[in-house]
Amino acid sequence: MFVKLVAVLWIAGLTCVSSNSPDNDHSFGYDSGELDPLHWATEYKTCSGKYQSPIDIEEKLVTKVNLPLLRFHNIDIFPTSTNITNNGHTVVVLSNYTTPVMISGGPLTPFYRFTQFHFHWGVNDSTGSEDLINNHSFPMELHMVFTNTDYDNDTIALTKNDGLVVLASFFEVTEEDNPIYEEIVDTLNKINLPDNTAILPVGLTIRSILPESTEHYFTYKGSLTTPPCLEVVTWIDFKHPIRLSHKQIQAFRTLRSKHGPLTHNARPVQELSGRPVWYNVGGYATLNTPIDESNNGVTFGFAISNIVVLLCCIFATLSTVL
Ligand SMILES: *[C@@H]1O[C@H](CO)[C@@H](O)[C@H](O)[C@H]1NC(C)=O
Ligand SMILES: *[C@@H]1O[C@H](CO)[C@@H](O)[C@H](O)[C@H]1NC(C)=O
Ligand SMILES: *[C@@H]1O[C@H](CO)[C@@H](O)[C@H](O)[C@H]1NC(C)=O
Ligand SMILES: *[C@@H]1O[C@H](CO)[C@@H](O)[C@H](O)[C@H]1NC(C)=O
Ligand SMILES: *[C@@H]1O[C@H](CO)[C@@H](O)[C@H](O)[C@H]1NC(C)=O
Ligand SMILES: [Zn+2]
Repeated sequence: MFVKLVAVLWIAGLTCVSSNSPDNDHSFGYDSGELDPLHWATEYKTCSGKYQSPIDIEEKLVTKVNLPLLRFHNIDIFPTSTNITNNGHTVVVLSNYTTPVMISGGPLTPFYRFTQFHFHWGVNDSTGSEDLINNHSFPMELHMVFTNTDYDNDTIALTKNDGLVVLASFFEVTEEDNPIYEEIVDTLNKINLPDNTAILPVGLTIRSILPESTEHYFTYKGSLTTPPCLEVVTWIDFKHPIRLSHKQIQAFRTLRSKHGPLTHNARPVQELSGRPVWYNVGGYATLNTPIDESNNGVTFGFAISNIVVLLCCIFATLSTVL
């Protein structure tokens, strides 16, 4: 499994090809003076493809849909071990789990297995997300990468247009530190240099890094946002942002790439080229009926109160009989 993981990361360009290989000609970055985003396509032809990511999502142009419930599997288990690595382009968190963490449903047909998560950020709090919403940039974006379980291995998945899913969450700045991120933030000073790896003794459950609500999201077909920019990704961008303090986001900007400070690592937006972008309005339980935003909470509360009433009746009946 781990060998496969390394293979997929290598191919996805999400980690550097190992530090000791003389690959500087092929390395990419985000500043002029290195292989910057405007020139990625000279080394990696697929980066000039028609259906690239990220994109600007204009809310008034999206198609509203009511998709089946997006399902999460085994997201409450803590990893048995977790590494956090500065790969020169981003911070990647890799974990071992006793049971695979998976997603299904929503716009997805098969199951997808979690492989890693990483971040994109900007030089200041007004910039940093890759996808934009109404041309608005968030200070940071989380990418949780999942692989299609229908394919024999990750190498094959990267050749299929439904090979990967990335769950993306935007961050917004708040006054308070987000306690979930403290372990990661506190470890960043140990992985200041490219190819540095540290261990996260506790690690995180996947549930803890998802936004509070996963019901509303944008979804579209696009690419990896790093070379080789393969067009194999179903993007799911949650509407509900995650909160992080300025100080916590600032910690990411202190990392270094092979070319200097890694103050920003967001690819500029690419042409939509007529692609549809869907917005899941939620309220899946009321498919094809008018949407009541509070529907799920109400349904759930209603179900609970029904169970309570039922239990009371059973108890009452039993106590009469006995
Ligand atoms: C996963 O477990 C293997 C075998 O124990 C170990 O070599 C590897 O470093 C672990 N990976 C992570 C990310 O902790
Ligand atoms: C995790 O970190 C340990 C200690 O630095 C290292 O021995 C191991 O190879 C790493 N595993 C991965 C998957 O990077
Ligand atoms: C943030 O960075 C962007 C990009 O470099 C720059 O255009 C903008 O002026 C900066 N904003 C602030 C508030 O410093
Ligand atoms: C988004 O901003 C860019 C650059 O600021 C501008 O060229 C573009 O027209 C804007 N797009 C929309 C849809 O407003
Ligand atoms: C992936 O599977 C294909 C076909 O089953 C095989 O040819 C290839 O060697 C496998 N690659 C890896 C990295 O396991
Ligand atoms: Zn990413």
